[in-house]
Amino acid sequence: MRDYPVRLLDTEEHRAAWDLFRGTMHSPPGKDEDWDRVRGAYLAGRVWGASDPELIGAARSFDAEMALPGGNLVPMAAVTGIGVRAGRTRRGVLTALQTAQLRELAERGVVAASLHATEGAIYGRFGYGVTTLCRDLHVDRHRARLRPETPAGGEVTVYGLEDSVPRWPELYRATGLPRPAMITRPDACWAGYESLAYRISEGMQTVVHQGPDGPDGYATYHVDHDYERPSRLEVFAFHYASPGAFAGLWRFLLSVDLVDEIRALERPLDEPVELLFEDYRVVSVPRTEDESWLRLVDVPTALTARAYGPGSPVVLEVRDPLLPANTGRYRVGPEGAERTDAEPTLRLDVATLAMLYFGAWPASALAAVGRIEVLDAAAPASADTLFGTRTAAWCGSFF
Ligand SMILES: CC(C)(COP(=O)(O)OP(=O)(O)OC[C@H]1O[C@@H](n2cnc3c(N)ncnc32)[C@H](O)[C@@H]1OP(=O)(O)O)[C@@H](O)C(=O)NCCC(=O)NCCS
Repeated sequence: MRDYPVRLLDTEEHRAAWDLFRGTMHSPPGKDEDWDRVRGAYLAGRVWGASDPELIGAARSFDAEMALPGGNLVPMAAVTGIGVRAGRTRRGVLTALQTAQLRELAERGVVAASLHATEGAIYGRFGYGVTTLCRDLHVDRHRARLRPETPAGGEVTVYGLEDSVPRWPELYRATGLPRPAMITRPDACWAGYESLAYRISEGMQTVVHQGPDGPDGYATYHVDHDYERPSRLEVFAFHYASPGAFAGLWRFLLSVDLVDEIRALERPLDEPVELLFEDYRVVSVPRTEDESWLRLVDVPTALTARAYGPGSPVVLEVRDPLLPANTGRYRVGPEGAERTDAEPTLRLDVATLAMLYFGAWPASALAAVGRIEVLDAAAPASADTLFGTRTAAWCGSFF
C-alpha cells in the first residue's frame, strides 16, 4: 500500500470534504441550504483530507467531553465524516487519515476518540473497539397498557422542528450525562443534528417533559402515517433525568393518535421499557448492535480517570503499535490505576481494552474468545467486577 500524504484542509475545502463524504455514502452532492446548516460541524483544524491531486479521502472530528464511570469527564474527539472516493479505496487512504488524525489527537492531549461505524470490519485495526451496545424497540401501541404503578405527573409540551431546534442544547444539558460514555454536545454537534433532522423529516416533533424544577426530559419523533399500511412513530432522541420523565415521555408517545407502532431506536440495553407494560411482550427487539466504538488515545489517563468496582487488582499489559506511548503495564484495582513494572496478569491490545473499558463485555468473555491472554487464572473474574458498570454504558449521541 502506498503511503498517502494527508493534511488538514483549509476551511474553503470543507464543502468539498462534505460532498466527498456524501458520495461515499451514496448520496448526491448536498444543496446550498443543507450546507448552510451543516457547515458549523466542519471546524477549522479538524478536517483531514487526502488528495491525488483532487480530494480522494476525508475524515473530521469535533471536540467534546466524555463521561466516565464515577462521573469524571475527559476530553474526547467525536470522529465522523470519514470516506474515501469510490475507485480509490483499498490503497491505504483511510490508513493514512486515521494515523494522522490519531497522532494529532494524542499530541493535543485528547484522551479518547469515539465513532459510529458503518461497517464492523473497518476500525479495529486502528485500535478502536466496540464499547457500547444498543437495541431498537418496537412497541405494539394498540396492545400496550401501562402498569398502574407507572409514575404519573408532569406536563408535556410539543414543539415543531423550527421551534425546537434552538431549545435542544438546553434540553440536552438539563438531562445531564447519566450513563458512562455519554458526551457533551458542542455547537458543532448541534449543527449536524439540525441538518440530520431536516433530512429525516420536516414534520419532526419535540416533546418536552416538565418536572418539578423545569424541563427534565425530551424526545424527538416523527410519524410516518399512511392509510395503506401501519403507521409508525419513530423516536430519535430520548433523554431524561428522572424516572418520572422516562415514564411521562412514554405515556405521551403512547397517546399520539394515528399510530400503530412506536419504534425507539438505538436505546441502552438495560433501559426498562418492557417493565412499563402490563404485557411484557408488547415490546419486541428486532435489532441489537454495536452503538459506539472507542479508541483510547491516552491509555494512562483513561485508566486513572475512571472509577472501578470491587475486586482484586489486576495487571494489564497493553499493546498499541499505532500510539506506542500507550504500550505498557497498568495495575488496576478498586482504588484506581497506575503504570507498573509488575508481572502482567492479563495481556491485550488497545482495541480490546476499549471493549473492556466501559464494561460492554466482561473480561472473562473476552478471555474466553482469545481476545485477552490470561496469565493468572483468577484475573478475568477480578477484571469482570473491576470494570463492570452499574448502568450500561451508552453514548446516546449519533455523529
Ligand atoms: C471505509 C473506507 C473509508 C475505507 O477506506 P480505504 O482507503 O479503502 O481503507 P484502507 O485502504 O486504508 O484499508 C485499510 C485496511 O482496512 C481494510 N478495509 C477498509 N475498509 C474495509 C471494509 N469496509 N471492510 C473490510 N475491510 C476494510 C482494507 O482491506 C485494508 O486491509 P489490509 O491492510 O489488510 O489490506 C472506504 O471504503 C469508504 O469510504 N467506504 C464508504 C463510506 C464509509 O463506510 N465510511 C465510513 C464511515 S464510519
